[in-house]
Amino acid sequence: MLQRIILTINGVERPAVCDPEKDTLATVVRRMGLTGTKVGCGTGVCGACSVILNGDVVRACVRKMKTIPEFSEIITIEGIGTPRNLHPLQQAWITYGGVQCGFCSPGFIVSAYGLLTKNQNPSRDDVRDWFKKHRNICRCTGYKPLVDAVMEAAAVMRGDKTVADIIFKPPADGEYYGSELPRPDALAKVCGLADYGDDIKHQMPEGTAHLAVVLAGVNHANIIDIDTSEAEKMPGVIKVMTAKDVKGSNSHPVPQIIPRMKAAGILNFPIICGKKVSRRGDVVALVAADTEENARAAAKAVKKNFEMLPAYLSFPEAMVPNAVQLQEELPNFYMELPLYKGKDTADIFDDAPITVEGSFRSPREPHLPIEPDVVQGYYGTDGTLTIQCKSQSLHDARAEVADACGIPEDKLRIILNPTGGSFGYSMAANTYSLVATAVQNLGIPCTMTLSYEEFNHTTGKRAASYSNGRLACDDDGKIIAVEYDVALDHGAYTNVASILLANLVAVAFYGYNVPNIKALARAGMSNNGFQTAYRGFGSPQISTMSEALIDMAAEKAGIGPWEFRYKNLAKPGDTTINSRPYQFYNIYPKLMEMIKPHYDKFVAEANEAKAAGRKVGVGLSLGGFLSTTGKFDQAEVELGLNPDGTVTCYNTWQDVGQGGAIGSLTHTLKALAPLGLKPEQVKLVRDDTGVAPRTGLSAASRSHYMAGNATLDAAGKLLDAMRKPDGTFRTYDEMVAEGLPTKYLGHYDQMNVENLDPGLNPNTGEGRYIAEFMYVVNLALTEVDVETGKATVLKYKAAADVGAIGNKLAVDGQAYGGLSHSIGFALSEDYGVEDKYGSMVGCGIPTIDMIPDDFEILYNETPRDLGPHGSCGCSEDFQSCGHVAVINAISNACGARVFELPALPEKVKAAYEKKQKGEDLTPLKYFFGTDFEDELELIKNTPL
Ligand code: FES
Ligand code: FES
Repeated sequence: MLQRIILTINGVERPAVCDPEKDTLATVVRRMGLTGTKVGCGTGVCGACSVILNGDVVRACVRKMKTIPEFSEIITIEGIGTPRNLHPLQQAWITYGGVQCGFCSPGFIVSAYGLLTKNQNPSRDDVRDWFKKHRNICRCTGYKPLVDAVMEAAAVMRGDKTVADIIFKPPADGEYYGSELPRPDALAKVCGLADYGDDIKHQMPEGTAHLAVVLAGVNHANIIDIDTSEAEKMPGVIKVMTAKDVKGSNSHPVPQIIPRMKAAGILNFPIICGKKVSRRGDVVALVAADTEENARAAAKAVKKNFEMLPAYLSFPEAMVPNAVQLQEELPNFYMELPLYKGKDTADIFDDAPITVEGSFRSPREPHLPIEPDVVQGYYGTDGTLTIQCKSQSLHDARAEVADACGIPEDKLRIILNPTGGSFGYSMAANTYSLVATAVQNLGIPCTMTLSYEEFNHTTGKRAASYSNGRLACDDDGKIIAVEYDVALDHGAYTNVASILLANLVAVAFYGYNVPNIKALARAGMSNNGFQTAYRGFGSPQISTMSEALIDMAAEKAGIGPWEFRYKNLAKPGDTTINSRPYQFYNIYPKLMEMIKPHYDKFVAEANEAKAAGRKVGVGLSLGGFLSTTGKFDQAEVELGLNPDGTVTCYNTWQDVGQGGAIGSLTHTLKALAPLGLKPEQVKLVRDDTGVAPRTGLSAASRSHYMAGNATLDAAGKLLDAMRKPDGTFRTYDEMVAEGLPTKYLGHYDQMNVENLDPGLNPNTGEGRYIAEFMYVVNLALTEVDVETGKATVLKYKAAADVGAIGNKLAVDGQAYGGLSHSIGFALSEDYGVEDKYGSMVGCGIPTIDMIPDDFEILYNETPRDLGPHGSCGCSEDFQSCGHVAVINAISNACGARVFELPALPEKVKAAYEKKQKGEDLTPLKYFFGTDFEDELELIKNTPL
């Protein structure tokens, strides 16, 4: 039954027709075209849908229309300001880095508007308390820039500042590189005018099919039958598709570049499972119907008949004796890489005066963007099947979808929708293939919006890791040997598996001098969520062990953790664990010296708090990450001169919130500096395989570096063509008149980079595949409530070197955002098959009260020889090891070291209580199917 209700929306009376029992306020305003009100969780926990209802901030996704009185006054983001008449909050969001993916921005701005209408002079704590109370969650920014923005907007509203004071000022010298030039897509995002996937759903033409997935819901089973007969009779159903309807290989195979496999074979990751299911989030059927509601209703009517099989929910479980083999193609433990350096470590450990050891688990971290997965598909006017999605790897996704769905690659076009965050998950193309399959079967446009729960169970996660490690040092506290055995749990399938494994024996202990090392990295499977890319890619896993062992050794040697680290930094002549020279020997000492005064201050604060009976501690961690995927990485960018003298940059530097657009703009301005262009004279045509070249993954902290170098190449070609003999530049008309092309393709690869190996030696782990590295030292001040076990990060500092900074707002954004994920990784984030993990709150997403407001990044800018304008990558530096600073701080605060992350309150409490009783906290060693030494012996006897 429907009801007509009159609402005053953004100052105007508007009638709305709705179902008062079923429709929510969010549904209604979005149906009226006010799609600035976003729906993320859809369950009232993220605040993306915040609107003002009769003066109060409410979450519109959980307000049923029957609770909304007629003539209610509603303010949505569209009523707060417009692009030509921004509210100070919107301007502040743009200027102070409040916008990354921007999906949360309308909800936050509406919420902040609600605060400032009540209190124009809030303290920072008032702002934080308000966002906590109204459940506004941001996954990108680390919250601090959002509080900065509210404080600046409040100053304008009080009359202490003008709007002009909070607008970015173009640099007097015209140098935008290194400035705080706001991102070009920020304006649309703060006004609620950026159309994300579900907004585009509302714009799809009549006759578009709505898709709903049928998930396995069980962890491991043979499929006896998927009965679609009842579902097919449901209202509005167009077709119910199963594996037999997939027209290609029905698989996303994963190329393995690590040659040391336990058996020949490639794991198949089906689009729609036909024979068996290997995880809860596997898709067994896909329903197309005339409405989303009808599609979802029919999906519920699909009957699943399974023969249940034993399920192993972690890699160690899949290694129990007589475990069943989970996949036909490969054994449960299927890939490995050894590492040796120096003398045999066994003898050294026997005689070492100081040794420490431990076994560590790092979580299966979920990415938790606020926007779930949304995909559209349709045939374009040229007959090309077009997919609009959130891919951070458009050209690679095109190849994968083409193979899985049986579409010639040149008949497939993939376009990036404005994307509400990814952090790595959208490297996998499984949901794009689902929609492509539907378009192939139906021949009509299709759209699919996953619920947050479906999204979280269907998409990939950071691989959980399990490690046994030990470290030896001499009486003087110098590291003399390290041994470790680490296993990655790839879950049911793999995505970019090989590269991840290599990072475990390349990034560990980076920056230290470890003269002797013996290690083994293993990878295997389970029935848990599948492994995919995630910012940091291997570094958080391995530093969970390495940076804990460093602290444990420092403590045993009676040396401070700062002093122990500084003493053990590599010096000229020392080599990496892969037996190669370091590129820089001066960066870590410099960063350690930069952090030292803050460390001393934190130690003094912690001591004072301890004297007052509180459990407050200080933790450090040192690490970083590589930039680019190595020797075979390549990128293309095209620059074209336009008739009006402006320039267009064409690329697929996918902007999933991290800043592909501002990076493209900044690099183009810098590379074409002789033309003296202003930002408004650069147009961006991006993120569409139909019109832009292959720039490569938005991953591996490579884009700024690779795309920047390719932009320089394109700019060099364009400038050469434009340059006249007298040194001035031809206009577009002059170029055309002289028959000169106006568009130039730039290319960059690393094939000729000196001393860069294609990969690590599969017998020894020796080699260098890291072209450039990004460096960071983290420092956390953390308090533990030993009654509850709850740990709170009070203050956080990081000193980092990511080369020359291209755009300060973008780098700060990655820093605060990445480190906020690290704090979550330490304290709360995990994924598992239980129901609670369908929700971002159940997965432990950090809320504003978990991230300190006293949060600062110190930069040292060492120019990189190969980097464009001296820059490197940046993003993954900030999610490489920051979590261990928190774990080390917990240990320093109360003596309780948590070995199995996340350090949930119950684990901290249990560890503290054990410590109080004098019990040993060291956990049992993990067993990975074979003994460490036996496995290394086997490798020695089977050289490749
Ligand atoms: S609270 Fe409404 S979408 Fe998350
Ligand atoms: S900018 Fe807040 S979730 Fe992306």
